[in-house]
Amino acid sequence: MTDALSSASLAGKVAFVAGGSSGINLGIAQRLARAGAAVAIFSRSGDKVEAAVQSLGAWGCEAGGYTGDVRDYDVTESALRDFGQRHGGIDIVVSGAAGNFVSPALGMSANGFKAVVDIDLIGTFNVFRASYAHLRRPGASLIAITAAQGQRPTPFQAHVCAAKAGVNMLVQTLAMEWGPEGVRVNAISPGPIAGTEGMARLTPTAEAEERLKARLALRTYGTPEDIADLALFVSSDNARFMTGAILCCDGGSVLGDASAVTNALPKG
Ligand code: NAP
Ligand code: COA
Repeated sequence: MTDALSSASLAGKVAFVAGGSSGINLGIAQRLARAGAAVAIFSRSGDKVEAAVQSLGAWGCEAGGYTGDVRDYDVTESALRDFGQRHGGIDIVVSGAAGNFVSPALGMSANGFKAVVDIDLIGTFNVFRASYAHLRRPGASLIAITAAQGQRPTPFQAHVCAAKAGVNMLVQTLAMEWGPEGVRVNAISPGPIAGTEGMARLTPTAEAEERLKARLALRTYGTPEDIADLALFVSSDNARFMTGAILCCDGGSVLGDASAVTNALPKG
């Protein structure tokens, strides 16, 4: 991490991380807490929320835990309202709750497709829409966690491609609607991140993992810290002129299959 980034302070800031109880989003919540923000975690499992909130205590964080489903607007709104009222408003909102499974389109029911669109896309609308009344404006930063599937068609990921493409358009549209009020709206698009539930589902074996790495420009998975450092920057006032951006931090994932380059080189 650069000096400029490590010195970014979020002291006095208030953050709400939807889907913050595990993986990449927990890494972001912990990074924001380490930078001095008060942080709320929101997800379905009470046990996961409790453990995540406890982990934030390591930095003396004023942490809050809320159990709920982003598909339920009223429950989401009530959590945002409660945390906002306790701290005099919210400065940073991360919408990272998501679902994924690997299936051809013909292998998923209408409800299977809908479940992922509801969590990723409708959930992001719910989180951002419900946060608006509680945002400290100007200066608030909203971050959606999207994925390369939102920009690159990917077989067996029809539900995720549709949902994340929708997330990207939602982010850019809200950036235009809410920019005049001083609300920035951006998306972070992680590539394959080691040790996460997402990659356990997409590349469940060591062989599958190696095959995917061979196709990435950088030939390696990222870490939750890679994404958390970017989220810290986008959350901070250092990013005050940045809105409507889909920020790839993905080892080149969105570019497509980089093994084609190696295969095209003359052998020997
Ligand atoms: P993860 O550990 O499964 O995190 C998902 C989080 O969302 C958990 O805290 C989960 O907690 C919560 N959640 C799921 N459904 C929810 C719902 N309906 N309402 C509220 N909370 C819900 O996943 P991850 O692999 O770290 O992925 C995190 C984000 O990064 C996702 O947006 C994903 O699309 C994106 N991403 C991941 C990768 C990767 O390599 N893993 C790559 C690109 C993009 P509960 O179970 O308690 O609800
Ligand atoms: N293949 C095909 N369909 C599947 C499936 C799979 N592997 N897994 C679930 N589905 C279908 C179910 O059959 C169901 O459809 P049906 O009612 O027609 O049978 C539908 O998806 C919803 O399943 P359900 O278990 O009721 O949904 P849920 O809301 O409890 O869970 C999921 C949502 C399915 C996305 C679940 O995997 C989840 O909660 N994931 C969160 C964690 C995660 O995915 N992390 C990685 C993020 S990148």
